[in-house]
Amino acid sequence: MKKVTFAIAIAIICLSSCKPKSANPENTLASITDTKVLQYAIEGKALYEANCANCHQKNGTGLGKLIPPIFQSDYFLADIPRTAKIIKNGQKGEIIVNGVIYNQEMPGNPRLTNIEIAHIMTYLYNIWGSESGVIDATMVEGYLKK
Ligand code: HEC
Repeated sequence: MKKVTFAIAIAIICLSSCKPKSANPENTLASITDTKVLQYAIEGKALYEANCANCHQKNGTGLGKLIPPIFQSDYFLADIPRTAKIIKNGQKGEIIVNGVIYNQEMPGNPRLTNIEIAHIMTYLYNIWGSESGVIDATMVEGYLKK
């Protein structure tokens, strides 16, 4: 039963996103081949679009000088544990992303669980990061303690 649901989910995603790969900052799952990573990333994409995309945009490019990008962000790529803390606790104060100063408050998401944060981070770091592989709930727990 679970396998069937998963197969249907994959089919739906493929129907909507199996386009030729381009250099666009697409939030596509098509580049992910590992099954476990893909399971996490499917959940993560939905959570990202519900909790983050209003500000950071579906394609991760942010909004001008108000909201920093996640796609091709040096700040995002530099520190994986920090990203877990930003998602959970929010972020306030001046930061520099790709040479641009940002200073707006990002609200935290205290109600997101470690597994939900793990899903979001697996999605983001596999589509826009250099990392590949699952970031799981135990890793997130460790990042939040650091
Ligand atoms: C209400 C708008 C808003 C929402 C929703 C939001 N952010 Fe942010 N985010 C910001 C702002 C503004 C900053 C910069 C904060 C600062 O200036 O100190 C930021 C910074 C960041 C950064 C570090 C800088 C960078 O871009 O590399 C990351 C990573 C990030 N957010 C990820 C997320 C994720 C993941 C979510 C969803 C769980 C999320 N944000 C939801 C507004 C938002």
